Amino acid sequence: MDGKILVTGGAGYIGSHAVRQLVRAGFDVIVIDNLSTGHIAAVDKKAQLVVGDVRNLALLDTIFTKNKILGVMQFAGKIIVPESVSHPLSYYDDNFSAVISILRAMRVHGVKNIVFSSTAAVYGTSKEPSIKEDAPLHPESPYGFSKLAAERLICDCEKAYGIKHCIFRYFNVAGASDDGSIGEAHPVETHLIPVTVNASITGREMQIFGNDYQTRDGTNLRDYIHVLDLADAHVLGMKMLLDGKDSAIINLGSDKGYTNKEIVETVGEVTGIPVKWKYGPRRPGDADSIVASNERAKALLGWAPKRDLKQMIQDDVNWRKKHPKLYGKQGNKFSKEDKKHILFYNDSRHYLSFYEDIEAADREKAKKIKIANNL
Ligand SMILES: NC(=O)c1ccc[n+]([C@@H]2O[C@H](COP(=O)([O-])OP(=O)(O)OC[C@H]3O[C@@H](n4cnc5c(N)ncnc54)[C@H](O)[C@@H]3O)[C@@H](O)[C@H]2O)c1
Repeated sequence: MDGKILVTGGAGYIGSHAVRQLVRAGFDVIVIDNLSTGHIAAVDKKAQLVVGDVRNLALLDTIFTKNKILGVMQFAGKIIVPESVSHPLSYYDDNFSAVISILRAMRVHGVKNIVFSSTAAVYGTSKEPSIKEDAPLHPESPYGFSKLAAERLICDCEKAYGIKHCIFRYFNVAGASDDGSIGEAHPVETHLIPVTVNASITGREMQIFGNDYQTRDGTNLRDYIHVLDLADAHVLGMKMLLDGKDSAIINLGSDKGYTNKEIVETVGEVTGIPVKWKYGPRRPGDADSIVASNERAKALLGWAPKRDLKQMIQDDVNWRKKHPKLYGKQGNKFSKEDKKHILFYNDSRHYLSFYEDIEAADREKAKKIKIANNL
């Protein structure tokens, strides 16, 4: 096809797997990422990488002018629920303002297709055993609200400007590439499977947050899908839009839930090393139970997850064993060879530092209060 897919956040965990599956499917890909949590080494070398910020309108304008963009996949954003509770400004800025910028650029340059990473957090706690897309939306954290606000804007832009969307609400994502070359490497890892695999490999004790939730064993219950199944769904979602089909909001989940305790036990089974764990306090913003109905994904995309929980854990273990330091210090360094696929740099530091300065000041204040109170 004559043109490129622009992937925002394509150096991050899910984005880098989507880039790889897009390349495998024959698409020409260009990535924009500010490397706040992403890694150059994660980006497929067949894709072009622009190191820059999605909120930078001038940069977007240059990218859209220099390239024929067929559609955008938006992964860029911040993802830690408790952090969003203490830093809402930063979360709305990265998860909502960034979407305003990308839609503005799409409108100006006549690009009509967007695939958007949303989240199950838009539903909040649901009494339904399996959540359908028309379930009531009541996020319980600034993270969830920032994503819901972005969804609303995307839907409004279809009515006003004819920009079509495929909004994916996904649940918990885990696993790594099938060859163990790329995988999950968040700077602060809060996701249960990698945290548990790490605990099993290192022998360090981990915590399960809360044991008084309304679930079968009192620990949070979540729906998990493999990152490659998720990436495949994104490719299908983009193809659906490029084929001229209607916009859609689609859950990506497995229709099955596992409690935190069950995950910890399964990791022990897969690695052969039982995990040391204890209960910790509840975390702010965590819902009791979240499981997705994937009927709509089956009907519209012909998609269903192919890889099960044990496969997700096994692939995460392989990735971690092959990369004990994950992307390590080399993650954002590049060789002359690499530089061929990195287009140019921009002034993303400005965007990176603005709210982080406020957060750093908050942390400093908290430290002083702790010291003053001898805590
Ligand atoms: N990981 C999950 O389990 C999960 C679940 C539901 C939804 N999601 C959604 O999927 C998306 C990707 O999540 P992930 O786990 O890959 O996170 P990630 O932190 O690994 O990736 C996000 C990427 O976006 C980049 N980025 C952030 N802000 C940017 C900006 N303003 N400009 C340019 N680049 C920017 C980061 O550097 C990083 O490479 C997020 O939008 C998240 O809300 C993730």
